[in-house]
Amino acid sequence: MYILAINGSHRKNGNTKILLEEVLASCKKAGAETEVVQLADTKIEYCAAHESDFCKNKGCVYKDGADEILDKMLKAKAIIVGSPVYMGTVSGRLKTFMDRTVILRRKGFALKNKVGAAVAVGGYQGGGQEYTIRDIHNFFLIHSMTVVSDGIDTAHFGVAGVGGGIGDVKDDKHSLNVSRNLGNRIVEELKLRGEK
Ligand SMILES: Cc1cc2nc3c(=O)[nH]c(=O)nc-3n(C[C@H](O)[C@H](O)[C@H](O)COP(=O)(O)O)c2cc1C
Repeated sequence: MYILAINGSHRKNGNTKILLEEVLASCKKAGAETEVVQLADTKIEYCAAHESDFCKNKGCVYKDGADEILDKMLKAKAIIVGSPVYMGTVSGRLKTFMDRTVILRRKGFALKNKVGAAVAVGGYQGGGQEYTIRDIHNFFLIHSMTVVSDGIDTAHFGVAGVGGGIGDVKDDKHSLNVSRNLGNRIVEELKLRGEK
């Protein structure tokens, strides 16, 4: 059971990473193999906007940091996407990567039925975390993935963390708890599917 987390933040060890690690800690406890990929470690070109048939027949024109992450997404049973809230939505870095995943959609919806879960952190409560989560969920839906929320009792949309400076989210005890709950819910869903 390989579970992948993608950190869309520019700050590699910032608040988004902290919450993603918390989600993965629950998954690990349940026996999953886990990994966090940092988009800040890679250079990823903008999608060149070719027609669907071009992507299908010739593949992507770029060979860059996106390739390795796309392979990891294919291997993963569940994908957690985390983003800081930037101007009320996902980071530009994450959006650029999301666009590049279109190749997987064009090649037979390769992410279909994988489990997707979202983490967002903003500097302020009500700073756009839920919109950011919604935008990540929309990304999963466009790939025909299965979206899960955090499990019962906190079950809402995913993790909506609050913290501005690096590490501040450690004071957001509720979101740390929701993160652990989200990890448990992901594993619960995978086990229902017979994954070990
Ligand atoms: C360009 C930019 C835009 C931001 N926009 C928002 C925002 O709309 N709402 C909010 O609550 N915080 C906003 N923030 C604050 C970050 O979301 C916050 O610092 C968060 O903890 C960053 O996560 P990280 O540590 O993983 O990078 C913004 C920060 C930057 C750099």
